[in-house]
Amino acid sequence: MEIRKALVVGAGQMGSGIAQVFAQAGLEVVLNDIKPEFLERGIAVITKNLSRDVEKGRKTEEEKAAVLARIHPTTNMGDAHDAQLAVEAATENMEIKKNIFRQMDEVLPTGAVLATNTSSLPITEIAAVTSRPELVIGMHFMNPVPVMKLVEIIRGLATTNEVYEAIEDLTKKMDKVPVEVQDFPGFVSNRVLMPMINEAIYCVYEGVASVEDVDQVMKLGMNHPMGPLTLADFIGLDTCLAIMEVLHEGFGDSKYRPCPLLRKYVKAGWLGKKTGRGFYQY
Ligand code: CAA
Repeated sequence: MEIRKALVVGAGQMGSGIAQVFAQAGLEVVLNDIKPEFLERGIAVITKNLSRDVEKGRKTEEEKAAVLARIHPTTNMGDAHDAQLAVEAATENMEIKKNIFRQMDEVLPTGAVLATNTSSLPITEIAAVTSRPELVIGMHFMNPVPVMKLVEIIRGLATTNEVYEAIEDLTKKMDKVPVEVQDFPGFVSNRVLMPMINEAIYCVYEGVASVEDVDQVMKLGMNHPMGPLTLADFIGLDTCLAIMEVLHEGFGDSKYRPCPLLRKYVKAGWLGKKTGRGFYQY
């Protein structure tokens, strides 16, 4: 199964990064979102990333132009009618994702693979709304996508080996490292990462240490590149809460209960870097 053209749904932080790394690997990319301004913002981020690569001598101006020329922004998903792959990178909400999968299932030709960049929602449940659950798979990129090496590849209950291998090959073509994971809440990345972030928030909530000091402990003590609270702001506190809810509900285990302080921040609209305020101010 050769993938030459891909649809990416969602031009936000993750979707624009995915479009960039696909185009860098030589794929034609249809980048789809619901509003032209979302697409413009996504293309601006990709252009900035590529310009930095040129400044640092990692790409020539010609290579930058060629990558950009392979990305086709559009509000019409129908432009991807001849793509071999679709990747959904919308917000972490099951109903929104199911709607997008129904649309992708209509637009993409028979035999095309439908992937989701979900960070915790069940692949098998998403696959069940399509006519081709055997062609549905999880392709979980890490933020920032152009920098992070990992792609967690999640098999749904019905996903075929052929589909798994096609996505594994594509991951390697992008110079990233695939890791195979089965479909359980949070997969591996967020089952391990989010309880750590949640526990860091509990440390602040219970007055064990300040935000800065919790981050300092993990940065200097564990050599993490970012402290957990900085990382939570970077990921988005709404996303962190959504993932904790998936773990809590999915396993029915109180060890995954979201910290009340995390809920309070999300209710206040303090979602982290993207809204200018989270555990830190930006
Ligand atoms: N887009 C593209 N490139 C970026 C970038 C971005 N948003 N942010 C940083 N970079 C690049 C920089 O250009 C720089 O490249 P060069 O050195 O080649 O110029 C390189 O990354 C390092 O950046 P900085 O020197 O500015 O800063 P840094 O050394 O602190 O690295 C970082 C930044 C890579 C983000 C690092 O802090 C890091 O690894 N943080 C942890 C990130 C992480 O854990 N991500 C996973 C989040 S969880 C997730 O994504 C999954 C989920 O489901 C929630």
